[in-house]
Amino acid sequence: MGVIGLGTMGAGIAEVLARSGVSVVAVEIDDDGVHRGRGHLEHSTERAVSGGKLDADGRTALLDRIRYTTSLAELSDVDLVIEAIPENLEAKSDVFAQLDKITGPDTIFVSNTSSLSITEIGVRTARPGKVVGMHFFNPAPILKLVEVVRTVVTEPDVVTDVVAFAERLGKTPVVIGDRAGFIANALLFGYLNHAVRMYEQRYATREDLDAAMRFGCGYPMGPLALLDLIGLDTAYEILDTMYHQSRNRLHAPAPLLKQMITAGLLGRKTGQGFYTYD
Ligand code: CAA
Repeated sequence: MGVIGLGTMGAGIAEVLARSGVSVVAVEIDDDGVHRGRGHLEHSTERAVSGGKLDADGRTALLDRIRYTTSLAELSDVDLVIEAIPENLEAKSDVFAQLDKITGPDTIFVSNTSSLSITEIGVRTARPGKVVGMHFFNPAPILKLVEVVRTVVTEPDVVTDVVAFAERLGKTPVVIGDRAGFIANALLFGYLNHAVRMYEQRYATREDLDAAMRFGCGYPMGPLALLDLIGLDTAYEILDTMYHQSRNRLHAPAPLLKQMITAGLLGRKTGQGFYTYD
């Protein structure tokens, strides 16, 4: 299998695949990207070992199943390729256009997009029937859900195969048509956005907002800490897409989100968001 893009999500997905015994060709745009992606995988698998989820030999075997490259041409033999590059339709279309020429006609094209339409991505390839979404959740090695997103032209057998594949990875797949936010984000992001508005209107401190949802509702993280984990730029894209599709004010991104993004406060990945990280 191929994984393209080794940011937080791509590296996590490569880990999930390799953990299940799948050989992975992992593609990044340049050597720095490969270096960063390898770093994500090493760090995450170290945590798996220290948490008793993997032994040292298992970790070595997992890491050995991943071959890193900066060349898409090395994906010529893969059965399925998962794209997890930044959320830009042109960039994704360009990658899949190249893959159309490199891979065989039966190779399944998967996108991990959370804010773009799988239909839009699919119709720009030469094989829309073989294009499907597989939306993993952050952190991908830990969270079980995978949303399998079918379009009106995805071949039913492709959906069946991808659902079976997700199960083989130890995930819990759910199938959804191509709507903005799919299932989980459509339900989650109104709540997250509302929390930003409460914070921006100074109803409560960030700590009290987060504590309310953790200790009152049993959520593993409060909404502002979760936004820092997701990345404020990613959250903005998801909200904006849903708002444009539904015009539901619940999803109109809170102004503070945009201000923080402009100031470079994207969350954990930049060391600062609602909270500060080492
Ligand atoms: N592989 C397997 N297991 C691993 C691991 C790895 N690489 N790294 C850590 N673990 C295990 C740990 O051993 C630990 O196991 P136990 O619970 O059995 O001890 C467990 O995973 C949790 O790890 P940590 O102790 O490091 O972390 P934590 O307990 O503080 O939990 C968290 C952190 C998993 C992030 C948790 O707070 C959580 O689930 N938060 C909510 C995250 C969430 O909602 N994500 C969805 C965001 S929306 C999205 O992603 C969609 C999108 O499109 C943006």
